[in-house]
Amino acid sequence: MMPTEVKLVDVGPRDGLQNEAQPIGTDHKIELIHRLQAAGLREIEATSFVSPKWVPQMGDNGAVMAGIQRQAGVRYSVLTPNMKGFEGALEAKADEVVIFAAASEAFSQRNINCSIAESIERFRPVVEAAHANQMKVRAAVSCALGCPYQGEVSVDAVSDVVRRLLDIGTDHIGIADTIGVGTAGRVKQVMESAMKLVPLAELSGHFHDTYGQALTNIYACLELGIHTFDASVAGLGGCPYAKGATGNVATEDVVYLLHGLGIQTGIDLDKLVDAGAYISQVLGRKPASRVANAILSKRPAIL
Ligand code: HMG
Ligand code: MG
Repeated sequence: MMPTEVKLVDVGPRDGLQNEAQPIGTDHKIELIHRLQAAGLREIEATSFVSPKWVPQMGDNGAVMAGIQRQAGVRYSVLTPNMKGFEGALEAKADEVVIFAAASEAFSQRNINCSIAESIERFRPVVEAAHANQMKVRAAVSCALGCPYQGEVSVDAVSDVVRRLLDIGTDHIGIADTIGVGTAGRVKQVMESAMKLVPLAELSGHFHDTYGQALTNIYACLELGIHTFDASVAGLGGCPYAKGATGNVATEDVVYLLHGLGIQTGIDLDKLVDAGAYISQVLGRKPASRVANAILSKRPAIL
């Protein structure tokens, strides 16, 4: 049942950087994307077309997209919470848009200022417009393993949102542990329930690593045959509307696990470590990746 190949989406330039309080130069964001594609990433979540009042760090979305030297075969996706965001994404020639719903009402209100039902109605025209422009639509289902405001989130609540997102034509569903509280058994339950609704090729996991469970949760998903995951170089990340949540699972750690299992990713781990070292140096700290730090301690980073 274990996959032989896994597709990784590096969400570092978006999920990773959105949570940084210090201003990060657009050139650094672009350089990070260039380094990720040079390392073999074929899916990169580049930025967000959200309100700059809500997430100022993503306010240079158009400039980031315009500055990327696009590489053939790489898909650049962006977050779009509504039609205004979609218009920005279209103008920026994004390949794919990501809508983001929540399995918890409380989080939906805090993150996108509307109820789950309202969010679905906002996403409906985004999906239609994306398809009319031959763009794929991914959806994130936040708080699928727990909510920072509401606590427990039921498996049924997750499936209900998945169903509603599929009903409006969403192509791909990402199950997100926004605050990194999930453990393997529960992740399996949530994924098994989602697998009844979503084809395996269009289902992915997005695990923040707050409680150190992300790699175990990914392993649990692999055992179910799931073969697409989001990850963030250097373990960057967090959501400004989920206090205390740390970064996504580090892409370096996931690649090390997968290669150790004999699963192909198409990613050059050494170059990926360099990309993570580059952005970590910009941010003035060490990568939040055990694998990256182990490799870096054995050799000088090529910066
Ligand atoms: P709102 O204030 O309710 O929006 O925010 P509104 O429609 O009432 O508009 C208010 C103002 O915002 C207007 O401007 C709009 O033009 C502007 P004004 O007239 O006041 O000058 N506006 C926009 N500007 C730029 N781009 C847009 C846009 N939309 C409206 N797209 C809104 C609603 C959804 C916009 C806001 O709540 C928002 O931007 N939220 C985004 C929050 C966010 O980015 N969170 C982090 C990403 S999600 C995440 O990290 C989770 C994920 O990783 C998975 C996981 O881990 O769970 C994906
Ligand atoms: Mg996230």
